[in-house]
Amino acid sequence: MKTIAIANQKGGVAKTTTAIAIGYGLALKGYRTLLVDLDPQGSLTGFLGIDTMSRPTVFELLGIQRKNRAEFKDVVISIADKLDLIPADISLEEAVKLLTGEPTAAVCLAAALRRIKDKYDYCIIDTSPSLSVITVNAFAAAERVIVPIKPEEAFAQRRRAFARNYREYESLKRRRRRLSRYYARQTPQKHRPNY
Ligand SMILES: Nc1ncnc2c1ncn2[C@@H]1O[C@H](COP(=O)(O)OP(=O)(O)OP(=O)(O)O)[C@@H](O)[C@H]1O
Ligand SMILES: [Mg+2]
Repeated sequence: MKTIAIANQKGGVAKTTTAIAIGYGLALKGYRTLLVDLDPQGSLTGFLGIDTMSRPTVFELLGIQRKNRAEFKDVVISIADKLDLIPADISLEEAVKLLTGEPTAAVCLAAALRRIKDKYDYCIIDTSPSLSVITVNAFAAAERVIVPIKPEEAFAQRRRAFARNYREYESLKRRRRRLSRYYARQTPQKHRPNY
């Protein structure tokens, strides 16, 4: 599975529109495609006509709280032929609060997606207009990041800011490898996250 995050800390630059377009495009080409909504605004979920009332979302899939963890099969929704969705809603804000400061905070999504990597050819992650710990989860899970932009004068400055923040994430990736080794030493086999 190839995983691509769509990100820009600026709002309204067509992140969600890009995620939908790429998702449908890949599915029409015959690729098994998973869209992941990683924005507490739930725009991708809403655009696709999904109501998250009384159903688990990406928050439960991340498995942050023992009491409300959900399996992938209980969260995923079929949208079209070869196109599935992991929905999100405002409950994802809670994940930001719970994860901030946690040692494995950045790799919850990567661990969840690792478990289903053979089910799909592509995974497209729509993120929120922020660089919260949740968006960093998208960076840690993805091999590629697409940054939609509006071609305007202020863009050059914002691009530098984004690049700076992204470099911080690169150092997080190194931390992720260290964390993996830490887990390998400290955690009994059955409790090790799968990443
Ligand atoms: N190529 C385009 N040209 C003009 N308008 C567009 C284009 N793509 C998207 N839009 C419009 O821009 C608005 C914002 O798009 P979208 O919701 O995809 O942005 P976003 O980056 O996901 O926003 P947010 O940061 O709030 O998540 C929408 O009204 C959408 O219809
Ligand atoms: Mg959006």
